[in-house]
Amino acid sequence: MSHISNSTGRFIVFEGGEGAGKSTQVQALVKRLRDFGLEVVQTREPGGSPGAEVLRNLLVQGDAGRWSPMSETLMMYAARSDHLETVIRPALERGAWVVCDRFADSSRAYQGAGGGVAPEFIEQIDAAVVGDTQPDLVLVLDMPVEAGLARASARGDKENRFESKGLAFHERLRQGFLNRAAKVPERYRVFNADQPIEPLFNDIWRVMARAFPELRVT
Ligand SMILES: Nc1ncnc2c1ncn2[C@@H]1O[C@H](COP(=O)(O)OP(=O)(O)O)[C@@H](O)[C@H]1O
Ligand SMILES: [Mg+2]
Repeated sequence: MSHISNSTGRFIVFEGGEGAGKSTQVQALVKRLRDFGLEVVQTREPGGSPGAEVLRNLLVQGDAGRWSPMSETLMMYAARSDHLETVIRPALERGAWVVCDRFADSSRAYQGAGGGVAPEFIEQIDAAVVGDTQPDLVLVLDMPVEAGLARASARGDKENRFESKGLAFHERLRQGFLNRAAKVPERYRVFNADQPIEPLFNDIWRVMARAFPELRVT
């Protein structure tokens, strides 16, 4: 498993569509890692740092057509740059684990596969902003789009700008996550998220323990 040079920290990312259970599983994983005595930084995107959270509010609230996919891409990467500089890299450099709810693959999926921004453009800006700070492991929670959206809308919060974009959009981004995972199989694992919370977490923990020897109980 690749990881960041000069650092013992680990960078774990959850990805997937609306309502797949990312935030629920992030919570459970962070708790389990802390039970191991590890320093864990729990964070999310868009947002995760004070500056990036300001941009989050602009991105996730309001009308679906409020921003074009290109404008979204630039705002997402502005937020990501601040998040990396002020939270993620400092944590990894001091050896902490970082568990992040969405990261760059959400830009590839939402603005690229879903929104039609050229993938080459996203890769260029990603190389400049994220560079070598790539996740050690990306856990993709996959499930049928309609069931995920039903879970998300039952949650009933006001951060529903992307939820409101329509089924075809959400089908494209589901496929976007799966394509990305298939392209970089060594750093990605896809989970069936259409199952109850506990068995899904057990699947995730099994993969984590296989990927990171320090998590195996001896
Ligand atoms: N495995 C699951 N089965 C059923 N409901 C779930 C499951 N995981 C999460 N939920 C519920 O579905 C909603 C969306 O979950 P959440 O973790 O917020 O998803 P996401 O962060 O991927 O959008 C929440 O109300 C949550 O309690
Ligand atoms: Mg969430």
